[in-house]
Amino acid sequence: MYRTHTCGELRLTDKTKQVTLAGWVQTVRKFGSITFVDLRDRYGITQLLFSENLNADLDANPLGREFVLQVKGIVNERSSKNANIPTGEIEIAVTEFKILNKSAVPPFTIQDDTDGGDDLRMKYRFLDLRRNAVKKNLELRYAVGRSTRNYLHENNFMDIETPFLIKSTPEGARDFVVPSRMNPGQFYALPQSPQTFKQLLMVSGYDRYYQIVKCFRDEDLRADRQPEFTQIDCEMCFVEQEDILQMFEGLIKRIFKDVKGIDYTDTIERMTWEDAMWRYGNDKPDIRFDISILNLKKPASVFVGKNDHAYLINGADFKVFDEAETVVAIAVPGCAEYSRKQTDELTEWVKRPQIGMKGLVFIKVNADGTYKSSVDKFYSEEKLKAIGEAAGAKAGDLILILAGTEERTRKAISDLRMYMATRLGLRKADEFKLLWVLDFPLFEFALEDQDGGGAGRWVARHHPFTSPKPSDIDMMINNSPKVENLDKYLEHPYANIKANAYDMILNGNELGGGSIRIYQRELQEKMFAALGMDAEEQQHKFGFLLGAFEYGAPPHGGLAFGFDRLCSILGGSESIRDFIAFPKNNAGRDVMLDAPATIDEKQFVELQIKLDLK
Ligand code: AMO
Repeated sequence: MYRTHTCGELRLTDKTKQVTLAGWVQTVRKFGSITFVDLRDRYGITQLLFSENLNADLDANPLGREFVLQVKGIVNERSSKNANIPTGEIEIAVTEFKILNKSAVPPFTIQDDTDGGDDLRMKYRFLDLRRNAVKKNLELRYAVGRSTRNYLHENNFMDIETPFLIKSTPEGARDFVVPSRMNPGQFYALPQSPQTFKQLLMVSGYDRYYQIVKCFRDEDLRADRQPEFTQIDCEMCFVEQEDILQMFEGLIKRIFKDVKGIDYTDTIERMTWEDAMWRYGNDKPDIRFDISILNLKKPASVFVGKNDHAYLINGADFKVFDEAETVVAIAVPGCAEYSRKQTDELTEWVKRPQIGMKGLVFIKVNADGTYKSSVDKFYSEEKLKAIGEAAGAKAGDLILILAGTEERTRKAISDLRMYMATRLGLRKADEFKLLWVLDFPLFEFALEDQDGGGAGRWVARHHPFTSPKPSDIDMMINNSPKVENLDKYLEHPYANIKANAYDMILNGNELGGGSIRIYQRELQEKMFAALGMDAEEQQHKFGFLLGAFEYGAPPHGGLAFGFDRLCSILGGSESIRDFIAFPKNNAGRDVMLDAPATIDEKQFVELQIKLDLK
């Protein structure tokens, strides 16, 4: 037997027991004639004491960091106890030891505060995974998976696997493709999600499906995106939107409870997409802090019924505001005392290319209720006060105003809002706030070519299987998708069609999203046609689904959560890589495997493929 106990298990109550442990050497410390070794495994660390009588053996078989060691010995009470670890009251007085395997000197220390940089740790990920910090993340991931499976099982969901070698499923990214040797010149696509399969399973009558499943998307990578990532993918039939929201609020609350011990009893707020954009400039707002946007000029786009506060800035002859498409403000709590240096810093921040603003206007609401601004020349104190009040500013607040073109300015104020909240410590990693964003537009209009499909056309905001809101179906059926005047696409009825779609947001991150689906062939054809697919292309790409809809497709809907994202947020990290055992770097490379890589000439021959790199 290699071991009787793990390295995290023994306590003072085990004193005098004869035990065998096996693990990795964390440290070797020699004190005169005795040697202490910390032995580590997945469960913890146990101190070993080698006394003088083993010195000759140790000299003949010296121990090094990360050696795999087996020891036999007696559990003793330690003279100097370590309260920081659960085994800190005992040590093993070693009677025999055996080196099971040696180790080269590891390229970085296997400790929480390792000296290894990112690239090095990724290259030797198998060593990095030995570190406690990484292990904790994987344990959390496992706990989230277990909790998910338990909840879904209890609610009658069935885990059904779907294939990886498929035909393209459009989720808005590029496909990874795999050549077929047996079908020369033809390619499989790896699924961007199992979307069409889960819908087919509904047609087959498996009314509650789930899968914790890998998805593959060839898209630009960020901290919260990997080319292969995992979804908690779910679908249900005979449900309306409300049934789905309730079911998956239940899932997330259960995960909070099981994994973090948090009773999330608050009602999960719901907000329409339009409100989210209007109040936060963003469709995934972080609502842990109470800063919302004051629109000082109504944007030209779809916010048809929204009131703006243009009267507050009009008539002052301030060209920057007068000429801008959009003027937006936020009131930042407690920053009126910012020095010139600090406000200059903020101005520089918004001028960075990533933000792209020309400048920043600010109004200080002094502690005594007086106002001071960078636009005093144009606005009386009375006007400033009116803006301050409309922005909800209190004494001591700093109002920040941005002006420019609609899309850029809205994104900039949203980024500035997040930046200020981070600066002020208002985005606490241990505070969780969920939000549903509802009623997304069904379509977006691509003025420029985004994906090779051409410019000046409608694209699905979510995916083409999402159904319009029942009240908007007629608007879709009765109007041609053709946009005569590209400048006026916002006036086309399609710009106002809302989708039966929902996203769940956690602390400003899109945790998951889904929709009620189209389940009638005619409406699905209409949808494909709106996206510019003629009958032949529809048949070629989605004939299987259109065909299935003719054989008793039930009303259905579902959603998918980003599993890696959920884990990283619960674990308090920005990067999902920390929660994936073998992640890719920002260039999509696995630096440990050195993949992607070229393949053998023989493989090209078998595939009948010739490389012609440009
Ligand atoms: P969607 O494309 O919104 O929906 O994806 C669902 C969730 O998956 C996560 N996610 C990612 N996580 C890591 N890396 C990525 N590259 C990545 N891309 C997406 C996000 C996102 O909210 N089939 C639909 C779901 C449905 O309609 O049921 C879908 O895939 O957290």
